[in-house]
Amino acid sequence: MKVTVVGAGAVGASCAEYIAIKDFASEVVLLDIKEGYAEGKAMDLMQTASLNGFDTKIVGSTNDYAKTAGSDVCVITSGIPRKPGMTREELIGINAGIVKTVSSSLIQHSPDTIIIVVSNPMDTMTYLVHQTTNIPKNRIIGMGGALDSARFKYRLAEALGCPISDVDGMVIGGHSDKGMVPLIDKATRNGVPVSEFIDDAKKDYVVQETKVGGATLTGLLGTSAWYAPGAAVSGLVQAIACDQKKMFPCSVLLDGEYGLNDLCIGVPVILGKNGIEKIVEISLTDAEKAKMQESAEGVKATNGLLS
Ligand code: LAC
Repeated sequence: MKVTVVGAGAVGASCAEYIAIKDFASEVVLLDIKEGYAEGKAMDLMQTASLNGFDTKIVGSTNDYAKTAGSDVCVITSGIPRKPGMTREELIGINAGIVKTVSSSLIQHSPDTIIIVVSNPMDTMTYLVHQTTNIPKNRIIGMGGALDSARFKYRLAEALGCPISDVDGMVIGGHSDKGMVPLIDKATRNGVPVSEFIDDAKKDYVVQETKVGGATLTGLLGTSAWYAPGAAVSGLVQAIACDQKKMFPCSVLLDGEYGLNDLCIGVPVILGKNGIEKIVEISLTDAEKAKMQESAEGVKATNGLLS
């Protein structure tokens, strides 16, 4: 299994690091446009191999896509990150051009690759890859829901005063402060609905803090987060590499599922060796459906800024 990660910034380097540490890939190519930067990060990471006990080979490349040839999975993290006070949508102008060029260069060298889009505004960037390439829809995946769900579980555990491994939950919808739909009424602690443990005010707090999870970190760090985004990507890549058939919420092209069409938005999918093996249609309450509809309208409005 060969994986390429485009963008050797904090998110890209974290992706490469977590993928390497999990030791399921033979090679990770880290590519960046900044001269020597990816080579430097790759060398630094390779020098952790004997310490962390992995055999994955990490190779750096300054914009030489020939090194990415034959990648099974390519992750696109390139583009500018958010600054405090910015929304993900405000990045569209610059990032759309970058994502378009990067995806076409990747496909030129790895025509059979599965693409994972991380660049923001992620749902719209994923849709752009569908529009500007001819690779089948099961091979284009937007990473947002896995990260948002991890942030949801963090907040759930905090509110319940319990370990994170006790809680489970999922966030669907757009990967934006307004568009996320944390499925709070489906969240559980060891299979028991969380409403048995926390009141409505605490549930609202969890939902609200989850939705602004990325913005909270951007405010603290001065730029967007990288550890949880990197770990979330590595989980998706591992599910594909190891044909795990694991379920994650991912941004995928919908064609009637959830009553939605012609957009990429977060819904549960099964990931395996073919990328998206299946879109899972779970039953939603009327309130959840209304939130999903509103979220889709927001994503479509951002998609409208593409042309
Ligand atoms: C975040 C970015 C990766 O939510 O969208 O941190």
